Amino acid sequence: MIVYEELREVHLLSVVELCKRLSWPSYSDPMRASRALSAPGSITRIARSGATVVGLAHLLTDGVIQAHLSLIGVHPELRRQGIVQQLVRLAFAASGAQWLDLVAEEGSERFYRSFAHSERVGFRVYPREWSGEPVSTDAF
Ligand SMILES: CC(C)(COP(=O)(O)OP(=O)(O)OC[C@H]1O[C@@H](n2cnc3c(N)ncnc32)[C@H](O)[C@@H]1OP(=O)(O)O)[C@@H](O)C(=O)NCCC(=O)NCCS
Repeated sequence: MIVYEELREVHLLSVVELCKRLSWPSYSDPMRASRALSAPGSITRIARSGATVVGLAHLLTDGVIQAHLSLIGVHPELRRQGIVQQLVRLAFAASGAQWLDLVAEEGSERFYRSFAHSERVGFRVYPREWSGEPVSTDAF
């Protein structure tokens, strides 16, 4: 049975394992992942099977108008069971926002099109001072 709930400290190591499985190295350190997923304005919902976290959705919101989807994913063996759709619905319902913006990774378009939506051009920018160092634009 899949249980949907808010992220709690007790889930953290299992969340990190899922992030590793999904090749998201930015979330491989538990303390860093915890800070990111519980930052002000964050709403994080997880799906778990027993003690194992199998899916998550994290968004950032002003609580009134805007919400931005930061991270969604589900274990590869549990895809197409409606798990992430439910996580996104639950996180958005808790946000109080009017809409949810996101940047879609290649291959995820059909998932996002399963919601009522409109399509815009998306960008991910790295607005740093020029240091001469190359900027990695494909890090996850
Ligand atoms: C994209 C992802 C989050 C979808 O999660 P999911 O739980 O499998 O999706 P759901 O079962 O909730 O799908 C809901 C609907 O979206 C559509 N959909 C989802 N995945 C799809 C796919 N691979 N192909 C076609 N349609 C898809 C379908 O309409 C589906 O409904 P249906 O199964 O009744 O037809 C999942 O594939 C994943 O974790 N991918 C790796 C991480 C990733 O790409 N994250 C997105 C970064 S932007």
